[in-house]
Amino acid sequence: MNAEQKQVLYQEAEKELVSITEGETNVTALMATISCILAQKFDYYFWTGFYIVDPAKENELVVGPYQGTLGCLRIPFGRGVCGTAAATLKTQVVKDVHAFSGHIACDSRSNSEIVVPVLNAQGQLIAVLDVDSVETGSFDETDRIALETLMQRIFAQ
Ligand code: SME
Repeated sequence: MNAEQKQVLYQEAEKELVSITEGETNVTALMATISCILAQKFDYYFWTGFYIVDPAKENELVVGPYQGTLGCLRIPFGRGVCGTAAATLKTQVVKDVHAFSGHIACDSRSNSEIVVPVLNAQGQLIAVLDVDSVETGSFDETDRIALETLMQRIFAQ
């Protein structure tokens, strides 16, 4: 899929999500709805969901709402792609997960991945958005910008 086609789909997804979630503040409802809309919209999304910062454990993510095959339940900060995004607060775009040292393989069909840190209005990390693809090199700058913008629009306002 080229950048233009991706952009059209991201624009549609953002429009739908902003309209559906208007006035909703429940984080579980927001994350479940985002996972659903994105997974339906993009054929190359294989696992789509959130790992949430667990308030009961220091520096640990726990699985949240998602669409896809079984995901691992907990990821310490610094481990795998999700843990790296949480520890660095930087979006991770991984063209080939098998070349990423420490990658946590929840499903061996996953070949590329993007993980976006999710911040609240106070700038605190509340979760990461994790999207996996069965293809290698599915994600690039177009995905990064669109997903960062969407997370900001939904969770940081
Ligand atoms: N691949 C992730 C783990 C989560 S699953 O893919 C659902 C990682 O290395 O962070």
